[in-house]
Amino acid sequence: MDFYIDLKNIAQEELKQINLDRVNVNCSPPDFEPHRQYYFIAKCRQMVKSESERLGRPLYACTVTFGCQMNARDSEKLAGILELAGYVPSEDETADFVIYNTCTVRDNANQRVYGRLGFLNSMKKKNPHMKIALCGCMMQEASVIEKIKKSYGFVDLIFGTHNIFKFPELLCTMLESGRRVIDIWKDTDQIVEDLPVERKYAFKSGINIMFGCNNFCSYCIVPYVRGRERSRSPKDILREIECLVKDGVVEIMLLGQNVNSYGKNLEEPVNFAGLLREAEKIEGLERIRFMTSHPKDLSDELIEVMKESKKICRHLHLPLQSGSTRILKAMNRRYTKEQYIDLALKIRREIPDIAITTDIIVGFPGETPEDVEETIDVIKQVKYENAFTFIYSKRTGTPAAAMENQVPERAVKEGFDRVLRTVQDTARERVALLQGKVLPVLVEERNEQDSSLMTGRLSNNTLVHFPGDASLIGKIVDVRLEECHGFYYLGRIVNL
Ligand code: SAH
Ligand code: SF4
Ligand code: F3S
Repeated sequence: MDFYIDLKNIAQEELKQINLDRVNVNCSPPDFEPHRQYYFIAKCRQMVKSESERLGRPLYACTVTFGCQMNARDSEKLAGILELAGYVPSEDETADFVIYNTCTVRDNANQRVYGRLGFLNSMKKKNPHMKIALCGCMMQEASVIEKIKKSYGFVDLIFGTHNIFKFPELLCTMLESGRRVIDIWKDTDQIVEDLPVERKYAFKSGINIMFGCNNFCSYCIVPYVRGRERSRSPKDILREIECLVKDGVVEIMLLGQNVNSYGKNLEEPVNFAGLLREAEKIEGLERIRFMTSHPKDLSDELIEVMKESKKICRHLHLPLQSGSTRILKAMNRRYTKEQYIDLALKIRREIPDIAITTDIIVGFPGETPEDVEETIDVIKQVKYENAFTFIYSKRTGTPAAAMENQVPERAVKEGFDRVLRTVQDTARERVALLQGKVLPVLVEERNEQDSSLMTGRLSNNTLVHFPGDASLIGKIVDVRLEECHGFYYLGRIVNL
């Protein structure tokens, strides 16, 4: 009689172990999370199975990620759900189910999505069973939803960033009804734990420690599409890290738009430095990374914790955005050029082997060639190991989009090139300091261009390519850094 499992009676810890084929989907779904979503995964599983039997082949699902590390982590959740629902993972965008996890931080991210949707449409015409889904940051913009409804009627499922945990339920509704499903939430204070995850790498993983952002930098759309800042409880985070380590993970990256303000909305008195101290204690964990640090909130305590740590990587991503105090003010970054330089140089002094990387925007409204010079001056003083340089992109709804003195793209190009050149020159100078040294490298993958080489990372995040084979993936090996090629090295394993 109790051959069927009723999810309402299952403890949270047991959820991931149960046989979903035995879940009773004829009773009503549980009304609490994440049990409710496991119920819908079980239901999808039945539908996927019968469709696959009908076609006499497996059903494939392809998850495509645009944007940042946080989206990459969300995609691992989507992939985990799809796999449990019975789909076979595929990298081929002609799969039976294709989902785009979108980004809207700059307009070119949106344009890429629209371009590729055209291709998906032509695929769908050849395979009418194909289902197409869109989720992620772009979907939180009303104008995008309007455009998709109007011009991309072939999309079957649309949801946003706040209800991503509801993916199984929405997928089930779509499969069952055969109709288009759209569900977008304006905001949420919910954090749903313990959904299935399919990691891209066996040995490293991102972990969300917080969601959303409260900073409202005037150019940035993220606070509008990701909502207010919410931190996960340290208990949940540490439990997740422990599980990952048991599963073979040696490197974690703690993810948040501004990790330095971690813990502010929690009842427990915990800050980011405190969380790092606890993570450090987890046995078997070798490397801890984090992203991103807002300069205004970076504490001396964090520098101290990094300095003392054996596991926290020698890398700090410290977005500058602009070197002009006037522009920084208009950007609402809440630090001056001098404060930023003092902070960066203090970090270099305290932790001499650290690599500092950054993000820079060129072409913010009102930016003059003199402002660009200020940015170049900061680059020359800090000498970043690497920097992402972006041309300002006007995002509708942000304060900067309404500013009058927008700089024409033509005028931006010259400053952008100069910034880029300065970054390249100073980075080469910094990265070359390691020439000849033997340092531990976590081996990540086979080199894409030359299959006789493996690619890994130093603690300071610099890429190293060296002769080796796939058996090394996930291992930490000592490599002699032989040739500096600007941002990366060619090296050779040494057997000490
Ligand atoms: N939370 C992170 C950044 C997330 S977005 C932080 O504050 O550092 C990643 C980067 O995209 C930003 O650092 C910024 O350099 C860039 N960016 C954000 N909005 C942009 C815009 N409207 N135009 C161009 N670049 C932008
Ligand atoms: Fe955007 Fe600023 Fe928040 Fe970063 S800190 S996500 S740049 S608003
Ligand atoms: Fe893009 Fe959203 Fe990340 S807008 S940068 S995917 S938070």
